Amino acid sequence: MRLPSFLTKLAGAGQAALAAGSLLLVAGCKLNFWRMDGHQTTMVTSGPVAESQLHVFYVTCWVTLIIFVIVGGVLAYATFKFKARTAADEHAEPPPQGHGNPLVEFSLIGASVLALVFIAVPTLKAIWFTYDVPEEQKENAYVINATGYQWWFKFDYPSEQIDGAGVLSTANELVIPAGRPVRVNLRTIDVIHSFWVPKLAGKVDMIPNRGNHLWLQADEPGYFWGQCAEYCGDSHAVMRFRVIALAEDEFNEWVAREKAPARSVTAAEASSSAKPAITFASFKRNEYGFTDKWNPGAEVSPLDHWRQQQFPEKDENAALIAEGRQLFQAKTCIACHTVRGHEGMGITGPDLTHIGSRTTIAAGLLENNAEQLARWIMHPLDVKPGNKMYTTGYEPNGITISTDEATALVAYLHSLK
Ligand code: CUA
Repeated sequence: MRLPSFLTKLAGAGQAALAAGSLLLVAGCKLNFWRMDGHQTTMVTSGPVAESQLHVFYVTCWVTLIIFVIVGGVLAYATFKFKARTAADEHAEPPPQGHGNPLVEFSLIGASVLALVFIAVPTLKAIWFTYDVPEEQKENAYVINATGYQWWFKFDYPSEQIDGAGVLSTANELVIPAGRPVRVNLRTIDVIHSFWVPKLAGKVDMIPNRGNHLWLQADEPGYFWGQCAEYCGDSHAVMRFRVIALAEDEFNEWVAREKAPARSVTAAEASSSAKPAITFASFKRNEYGFTDKWNPGAEVSPLDHWRQQQFPEKDENAALIAEGRQLFQAKTCIACHTVRGHEGMGITGPDLTHIGSRTTIAAGLLENNAEQLARWIMHPLDVKPGNKMYTTGYEPNGITISTDEATALVAYLHSLK
């Protein structure tokens, strides 16, 4: 009885391999659990689109794992069973060769088709589901126009009109309503970029002269990391962004604040003479610009940190802020950046009307605190290779910024809440 014994041994080998594989997986998960829960993980999802994509991943993973175990088991069995054990075996005639067993061949074809169908059904369902907002939810969907620039993201809110200033526009931090589908129209101003918020939805390219779109939904309020996922030049790897999902009321409050023009701080409301305490540390080139409080398990959640950032600081120095506002013109920042209600009118760089209320600067690369902002405006090229603030602004115009000037500019920019 050759066949049953073969099958028993195969099953035994398969089980052993499965057990070993499971152990490895479990050990791997335990050791790297913090990675599975990282800012840009696709293994912990926060919305229906990412969830359906994770489901497809698991289905594919399990089917291929089973195939791997079976094929590996047969190979291992044959290798050990038929290996040459003695010198005589080396020169022995090969055992009788069999081929063309219809039962085996049809079973293998059938099993392959079945495995493909097993993967194809959920895959096709997920492709249809993730392509666009489901029909019954279309009317409820919130629309955002996202545009890729080398190397930052611009977000326009077509439903939020501002008198005499077009639509609400912001950069690098996309604020959306939670629990509601969001349709993101994807465009690019230059090369191909790719819009990706791993915990919310898979990546979709932003292609020149071609309209693309995706949809996503954050089930709960939260703070999510995004990343350009298509190589787009020098600073592709640091072309990041954030998505902040807020409950409907809080979202509406944010929209109202954001539609208002830039704050003008008067001497009457801010009489402090304190200067922002900036340590002008010497940062290494490309040094990381975030503190540990951004890591999972930190005391203040990133979303609460974002909330704290929304309102003006208590002791503002009106004179210093006015000086910074002057410098913002003198250093030609106004040529590229808009500060709605102030002098800035440029459109080639991010809109800075409410830059002070963002948690990040330099396209999600640095934390928006006094040190990092000073570092960014003084040494942009050391922070972000090839960035246009330096190559088309600072360099051709011979612009440099001293520590005193940086202090005033930081005070001004941080007053823009
Ligand atoms: Cu933009 Cu990569």
